[in-house]
Amino acid sequence: MTNSTPDTKSTIDTAAISTQLDKLAQTPEQFRKINTFMKRRTHMSQYCEQALLDARYHGIYVNATGKLGVLGDVSQINDLRALFADSANGSAAPLTLEIGFGMGDSLLEMAKNAPEQNFVGIEVHEPGIGRITFLADELGLDNLKIINGDAIALLDNLPNDHLDTVQLYFPDPWQKKRHYKRRFVTHDRMAKVARTLKNGGKFHSATDWEHYAFWMLEVLDSMSEFHNPNGKGNFADRPDYRPLTKFEQRGITHGHGVWDLIYLKN
Ligand SMILES: C[S@@+](CC[C@H](N)C(=O)[O-])C[C@H]1O[C@@H](n2cnc3c(N)ncnc32)[C@H](O)[C@@H]1O
Repeated sequence: MTNSTPDTKSTIDTAAISTQLDKLAQTPEQFRKINTFMKRRTHMSQYCEQALLDARYHGIYVNATGKLGVLGDVSQINDLRALFADSANGSAAPLTLEIGFGMGDSLLEMAKNAPEQNFVGIEVHEPGIGRITFLADELGLDNLKIINGDAIALLDNLPNDHLDTVQLYFPDPWQKKRHYKRRFVTHDRMAKVARTLKNGGKFHSATDWEHYAFWMLEVLDSMSEFHNPNGKGNFADRPDYRPLTKFEQRGITHGHGVWDLIYLKN
């Protein structure tokens, strides 16, 4: 098994994870439909606020609400490729959707490092949305678009076989058992990701929470829509194109390991 953690034996009970996932699958659908995020209120700098409110940023921040404290409406967004129709890359370039980019530094870095590819980031955290929008504008990036809203609602609107890559870096770990249903990686939610990925498309996640790492392996290895190029039960080596994220740095500071997972759509 490869990962970037120190060489220690895992204490995770994978049989218990399997039981918890079975229990979740048997929970009535209305109780499984629950947000994977919790809106956090944090300080916002003036330039972030400006990027959230000023119409001059609408080329990057595509569903600006014009107000603060409002969850973005994604109901009209049903084609992410069309967002790049007038850009240098055009709409046919490889397209990555990043779910939950946080403060956005790693997504910004990826978009800067791969100018021939298109990137869309979706978040609910306004300081991050404002920050990445402002910085993408400063850098003159035209291969990056930002959406405010719930990624699940967005995925439901997108066509089949639309995306080349979906990335989910350091998703909220929802550590308590009663919160496991909020984890982004569940069979239901990952079926939505699989539907929108092209055949051969990639799902890439990373976490610093060991239980969630093994939980993700259990979910993804059991789905017929995906295969694990590293072999069932194996994590991936951290690819060099994935920059360090803010939450990853925080985890490392607390002595956590880091686990990458890569799956390809069948
Ligand atoms: C733990 S943070 C990680 C942020 C960033 N990826 C990093 O590594 O620094 C997880 C982020 O996912 C966002 N998030 C969770 N569920 C989401 C959803 N359904 N749609 C959009 N964003 C979501 C949260 O708002 C939060 O900012």
